[in-house]
Amino acid sequence: MPESQSNWNNFSRVFRESVGLIGLSMTLRYLLIWLLSYKPYDDLSFDRANGTDTGGMVPTRDLDLEDESDRWQSNLYLGSPARVTRHIIESLDINYRDYSFIDYGSGKGRALFVAARYPFRRVVGVEISPPLHAAAEANLARYCGSPLQSEISLWCGNALDYPLPTGNLVLHMYHPFGPEVLGQVLDHISATAGDQPRRILIPYLFSIGVAKAVFRERPEFVRVRDELCVNNLYRWTLYEHTPADALPPAP
Ligand SMILES: C[S@@+](CC[C@H](N)C(=O)[O-])C[C@H]1O[C@@H](n2cnc3c(N)ncnc32)[C@H](O)[C@@H]1O
Repeated sequence: MPESQSNWNNFSRVFRESVGLIGLSMTLRYLLIWLLSYKPYDDLSFDRANGTDTGGMVPTRDLDLEDESDRWQSNLYLGSPARVTRHIIESLDINYRDYSFIDYGSGKGRALFVAARYPFRRVVGVEISPPLHAAAEANLARYCGSPLQSEISLWCGNALDYPLPTGNLVLHMYHPFGPEVLGQVLDHISATAGDQPRRILIPYLFSIGVAKAVFRERPEFVRVRDELCVNNLYRWTLYEHTPADALPPAP
């Protein structure tokens, strides 16, 4: 059956069953909301301007992960809108030249291109999915947007195994993994952070309860700011890693 025919059959079935379930008026209202809503997977504005292919949504089953626990703990791919990443970076109030920017779960690389327009010491993408890593490599080769001010490198593997670079860090996360892996990644950051005096900032996008709870269990990650959005997808929280001896004593 042609794809358009199967999409139509699927839509008419959903429509009929919705009308049975919630009535015609409510079905039409929800349909209108859906038609008017911003669909991040369909937003091609960044790619049109830069010659890349960072759009779409890649469900976890298509990330090509062999290990079953990786499949359980990895979240799908969806690029963050460029203006959200820019807003986050500009809110950090830092001297970019003194920081490395690491995107944990970099997917096809959109956030990396946005970050590399600022003069970070380096910009690194850490991505577990081989096909997404390959897509980011292809994007690096075809990017034709405004000149980049920092070099991008790509690292394919589990964030748990990524060795943190020295110096000040911005560790960008767009809800990349489940709570178990997030906890282990944070513990790894804490264990290596204290090797030297430095600042480690973690802007966490799509800052929902399950992720917040993992940070809350680790008081060395101090919540610096929380920014809300009518679309929960883009609410974000900034955490700063603070060495244990700099934390106020527990009450
Ligand atoms: C929501 S996407 C974020 C994409 C990108 N950071 C951005 O902002 O445009 C989450 C990404 O995390 C990756 N991921 C999931 N688990 C991971 C892990 N353990 N290590 C590295 N990357 C992981 C997924 O494959 C996916 O590409």
